[in-house]
Amino acid sequence: MLDLNAPLREADPAVARLVDAELARQRHGLEMIASENFASRAVIDAMGTPLTNKYAEGYPGRRYYGGCEVVDQVEQLAIDRAKELFGAEHANVQPHSGAQANFAAFMALIRPGELLMGMALPHGGHLSHGAAVNHSGVVWRAVHYGVDPATGRIDYDALREQVRRERPRLLIAGGSAYSRILDFAAFRAIADEVEATLLVDMAHVAGLVAGGVHPSPVPHAQVVTSTTHKTLRGPRAGFILCRADLAKAIDRSVFPGTQGGPLEHVIAAKAVAFGEALTGDFRRYAAEVVENARVLAAALADRGFAIVSGGTDTHLMLVDLRPKHLTGKVAEQVLGKAGITVNKNTIPDDPQSPFVTSGIRIGTPALTTRGMGTAEMELIAGLMDRALATPDDDTLAAVRAEVETLSAEFPLYERATAGAAR
Ligand SMILES: Cc1ncc(COP(=O)(O)O)c(C=O)c1O
Repeated sequence: MLDLNAPLREADPAVARLVDAELARQRHGLEMIASENFASRAVIDAMGTPLTNKYAEGYPGRRYYGGCEVVDQVEQLAIDRAKELFGAEHANVQPHSGAQANFAAFMALIRPGELLMGMALPHGGHLSHGAAVNHSGVVWRAVHYGVDPATGRIDYDALREQVRRERPRLLIAGGSAYSRILDFAAFRAIADEVEATLLVDMAHVAGLVAGGVHPSPVPHAQVVTSTTHKTLRGPRAGFILCRADLAKAIDRSVFPGTQGGPLEHVIAAKAVAFGEALTGDFRRYAAEVVENARVLAAALADRGFAIVSGGTDTHLMLVDLRPKHLTGKVAEQVLGKAGITVNKNTIPDDPQSPFVTSGIRIGTPALTTRGMGTAEMELIAGLMDRALATPDDDTLAAVRAEVETLSAEFPLYERATAGAAR
């Protein structure tokens, strides 16, 4: 008979070993992928609970299953905290991920075949904003705007012209690799000109918005979608905020429209993360993330790296590697050998394919969570430069050793030994 009480380490050593290996990888390297972070032990604990056992199709107080009196309170707490954190009239905390949140929101706002307009993927947009390979680009017609090649920034006059010409029903702001403050008021004014709905996907900057270091889209957009696991530092998941008059349409589109039973254990973890983000500590964290990014971008620029748009206002930067005669693919591999994790990324009007790219995207949310500050950013810029300038085995081994030493100074999940993580 199955021993329900056996810890993972005893019940399934093969899986436990892999969890151990991933924890070691996270501990001993420098995690600089802009969309990643380290969730707190409390967030992780909430996910690993018997709430996973409960079916709860529907919404608090209106479920299709019995026994929901406790999970109703869990979900209501997450909803209330999300509304408080972002000053929103309505929150749906059921989307399983950012892509799911977008799909549900689009389905609520425009009919199949209508036109949506988002930022182009190679300019910093996201797949789920109408890319041809994503269902959003199949169900709806999609056109895309980019950044001004000279400045690396959105040119709002050019955007207005394009919107007037294309007349989309849905205008999407927000992306995955845009490092500058987004002017949500300008987006809304442009959308209003053609009576389009404005949706802001704040997945990347949600934590910065919560922490008060990026303007909030909530007063401007009819609908805001987001993930919870990037700068917001929660579990891997999504949520949607909207005005009260769109609440019913959004809720219906999430369930029963596009999802089945909600993941109440993950929703509990979202409640924990929203609670953490409501604290002064989190506001300080968000400010440090941005300051670290600013210092890192400047330190890389000092070493001859070209930063797209000349710098950053947020947690991330895009590095154009062409002046260094490197591709994103090579840089990602070289830095990986040195224990520094980044991702290759297209730069605006990239001459290389998305599998090669001319750039890398770098972010500071995870390192800042570990406690690293501006002194470490300067140090890391030097390590990256050394590895990329002389990618031979000796240099990479030496940089890797320094990465290990630095990582050890900022311990991660000290009390967790994976198989025994619980
Ligand atoms: C802007 C944006 N929207 C949506 C998503 C999709 O989120 P998920 O991976 O949770 O589906 C991402 C993920 O990178 C993103 O950057």
